[in-house]
Amino acid sequence: MSPTPLFHARGLAKVYRMGQVEVPALRGVDLDLFPGEFVVILGPSGSGKSTLLNILGGLDAPTAGSVQFKDHQLTEASETELTRYRREHVGFVFQFYNLIPSLTALENVSLVTALADSTPGMKPADPAETLRLVGLGDRLDNFPAQLSGGEQQRVAIARAVAKRPDVLLCDEPTGALDVETGKLVLAALQRANRELGTLTVIITHNASVAGMADRVLRLRNGAIASDERNSTPVAPDALSW
Ligand SMILES: Nc1ncnc2c1ncn2[C@@H]1O[C@H](COP(=O)(O)OP(=O)(O)OP(=O)(O)O)[C@@H](O)[C@H]1O
Ligand SMILES: [Mg+2]
Repeated sequence: MSPTPLFHARGLAKVYRMGQVEVPALRGVDLDLFPGEFVVILGPSGSGKSTLLNILGGLDAPTAGSVQFKDHQLTEASETELTRYRREHVGFVFQFYNLIPSLTALENVSLVTALADSTPGMKPADPAETLRLVGLGDRLDNFPAQLSGGEQQRVAIARAVAKRPDVLLCDEPTGALDVETGKLVLAALQRANRELGTLTVIITHNASVAGMADRVLRLRNGAIASDERNSTPVAPDALSW
C-alpha cells in the first residue's frame, strides 16, 4: 500500500496576466508530496519554481487545476481559510530572513511558538531547543544585527519549524549566502527534517544540492521535466559545490 500524500496536486496551471500579455508560469503540473520527504526543486530561472511553491503554500492560486492538502481542497478555500492554513500548517523560509530586528533570536522564535501555543490543535516545539537543533544554542540572546547572514537564516529556519508545521517551504534559502555558510544552512534544514519529520521542499539554483535530497524535481517551462528519488542522500558537507 502506498502512503497517503500530504499534497495531491493535479493539472496545476498558472497564467499571469500583465495587461494584454499572458505569461504562462505553470502548464499542467501533477504532483504528490509525502510526509517527511526532503525534496529539492531545480530548474532554470522562470521555469515556475516559485509559482509552484507559492501555490502549495496558499500564497497564490492556480488558474486551473486543484491542490488537495490532507482532506482539504486548497483551491476551493476562502482567503480566511488560506490564512489559517498558512498559519497552522506551513513554514516558509525565503532568501531574506525577515527577522524582527528589535527581538533576540530566542524572542523571534518564541513569538511564533506563543501564537501556536494558544491555537487549538497546534503543538509547537520548545524555541530554545529548536535553536539548538539548528546549531544556535549559544546565540539565543543575540539580536539579528549581531548575527551573520547564515546565522540569521538559521534563526528563520528555527522560527519556521518551531511551530511544527506539516510542510516547510524554502525558496532559495541559501541564495544570499556564500558556499560554506550555505552548507551550514542546508545542514540545519536536513537536521530539522530528520528530527521533526517535516516535509521539506527547497528551491535552489545549485544542482549539487540534489545530492542531499530524498527526491529531486526538475521544472522546465512550467512543467515537471523529471522527478527522481535518491536512495542515498548525503550530508551537505559531502556535496561538491
Ligand atoms: N506576479 C507575476 N506577474 C507576472 N508574471 C509573473 C509573476 N510571477 C511570476 N511571473 C512569471 O512567471 C514565470 C515563472 O516565474 P517563477 O517566479 O515561478 O519562476 P522561478 O522558476 O521561480 O524563477 P527564478 O529561478 O528566477 O526565481 C516567469 O516567466 C515569470 O516572469
Ligand atoms: Mg523563484
